[in-house]
Amino acid sequence: MSFTIAIDGPAAAGKGTLSKAVAAHFGFAHLDTGLLYRAVGAKTLLGVEPIEAALALTAEDLNAQGLRTQDVAQAASRVAVIAEVRAALVDFQRAFAQRAGGAVLDGRDIGTVICPDAAVKLFVTASAQVRAERRFLELSAKGDPCTREDVLADVKARDARDMERVEAPLKPADDAVLIDTSQMSIEDAALRAIAVVEARKP
Ligand code: CDP
Repeated sequence: MSFTIAIDGPAAAGKGTLSKAVAAHFGFAHLDTGLLYRAVGAKTLLGVEPIEAALALTAEDLNAQGLRTQDVAQAASRVAVIAEVRAALVDFQRAFAQRAGGAVLDGRDIGTVICPDAAVKLFVTASAQVRAERRFLELSAKGDPCTREDVLADVKARDARDMERVEAPLKPADDAVLIDTSQMSIEDAALRAIAVVEARKP
């Protein structure tokens, strides 16, 4: 039986940590859909044309080194405005969502476009400052020589591009449960998410 959990939200909202915790708790598979766009974005930085890169994407591309850098994040959000790029990635995401045993997908348009019938929809957010600080600590811990200012600028620029695009803009689905993690640790947010899912499980 399939059971889909859609987790959307702006840049660096903690969707990854939260999604992994929810997936691990329920024994569901997890897909970080941002990685699809990052993998396409990374290819464009190597000179590949975006639509071509999206159509030729393979599972191996998702394991490429360096997909978590800010340059790749920016490239991802630039290719993510292209309708043909998004269309090329739809079938893979929907097939993943339908897999037996349950699936958690995190991204920007999972509850609105990819899986409008998801059993549970969460919209995870936090202030831009809090999100930028979390991402700064994460990147610094990996040895990335970023500054707080750069990270905040990246988060704000991507939020604006993601919210203003015509195709599948970032916004909460009407039936999404909002989780604002500005004043909450990601661990507490994960517990809250697990409780929401628990209440909806058959
Ligand atoms: O981890 P973070 O929240 O910083 O970003 P991500 O989830 O890896 O997504 C990178 C970029 O891909 C986003 O800024 C979006 O432009 C795009 N994206 C999207 O358009 N739709 C999705 N379902 C997932 C990501």
